[in-house]
Amino acid sequence: MLHYKCLNKHEMSFISIEQYELTNKRILLREDFNVPIVNGKITDLTRIKAALPTIEYLIAKKAKIGIISHLGRPKNYSFDNNFSLGNICDALSKLLNLPVKLIPNDFNTPLSSEYISIFENIRFLKGETNNDEALAKKMAAACDIFIMDAFGCSHRAHASTNGIAKFVPIAIAGPLLKKEINSIKKFISTPKRPILAIIGGAKISSKLPLLTKLIKSVDKLIIGGGMANTCLKAMEMEIGKSLYESDTVTSAKTLLETNKEKILLPIDAVVSKNLNENHDVRTIALTEMQPDDIIGDIGTNTIKSYNEAIQNAGTIIWNGPVGIFEMETFENGTKEIALAIANSNGYSIAGGGDTISAINKFAVTQKISYISTGGGAFLALLQNKELPGVTYLATSAQSAT
Ligand code: 3PG
Repeated sequence: MLHYKCLNKHEMSFISIEQYELTNKRILLREDFNVPIVNGKITDLTRIKAALPTIEYLIAKKAKIGIISHLGRPKNYSFDNNFSLGNICDALSKLLNLPVKLIPNDFNTPLSSEYISIFENIRFLKGETNNDEALAKKMAAACDIFIMDAFGCSHRAHASTNGIAKFVPIAIAGPLLKKEINSIKKFISTPKRPILAIIGGAKISSKLPLLTKLIKSVDKLIIGGGMANTCLKAMEMEIGKSLYESDTVTSAKTLLETNKEKILLPIDAVVSKNLNENHDVRTIALTEMQPDDIIGDIGTNTIKSYNEAIQNAGTIIWNGPVGIFEMETFENGTKEIALAIANSNGYSIAGGGDTISAINKFAVTQKISYISTGGGAFLALLQNKELPGVTYLATSAQSAT
């Protein structure tokens, strides 16, 4: 069994929105519309689509809806068009077939049941990320009911995910948040063995606590992407000019030495002298790496060994690509992993922005058992960490009004 015995924080039963009278009520709905945008265009609608059932329910109840979200990590707490939620309005309006208005995030504009209001990016305000009480109170005063539905940022203790819930008359969990927590919780309490985790991404420093914890619960762990480079460096292998984190080499070495039997790393790679220009692209054994080679993807023998682990797994946890899958030259490793997971008989659970993009790109959405909208939140829940976004939400221990 995975080590998730203390799930109490998440085992509590949240009160459903169905138990509240919502008609004509001013609702602040926290969603996670932090979607990838390239040149002003949304490249993946998964998070917006996942929120539609909640929004449609509120529309049917004739509630006055104001949606709060962040988008990206804007610097200096000031307006930046690249991070404006104006980028989201059109897409949401098309999906709902209803007018969607962008309104200022001063929380002074009255909400209406005739259209959906979206407040401008909450991260343009300094008080958001430091969970400022004055901002939380201001938001709370603008609604009768707060609905926290943004699973994707429920691991953040911010004013709009945590603080606000302390000051509103009613703070409830939205259907998406409930679905995510219940599905992941159900999965982690009854996983089928052997359990395989595939964790990719650029920085091992940010995922080391996760890997250290996860390795105790899983039977095999594939470390992919840039993180694998740091591990290869820790094994004193030549990785050429590939990116790695020098500060984390020692910790990676400890992880590898203590878990030799469980960890799978690349044995060959697709390399180039210049990733952007696809200069001298070759698939080579890692023992043939030259000092000016850069790793862009895993090679065919690595794919074979990973596929075998995937076919043998009863449960597969996937977060993070194993190569630069956005570039055609280096997409094959992640593609083959996605297809192998899709065709395996194991239960598969995946989460994270890049992972969802890869799942969509390689058209395997229908064949993954559960796809979470969360990246950091998905990983936090897998580690059984407390989610600040649920701390103050109404549970069955409290009475619905
Ligand atoms: C995510 O994309 O994981 C969430 O939206 C949280 O975003 P953040 O990491 O910028 O807080």
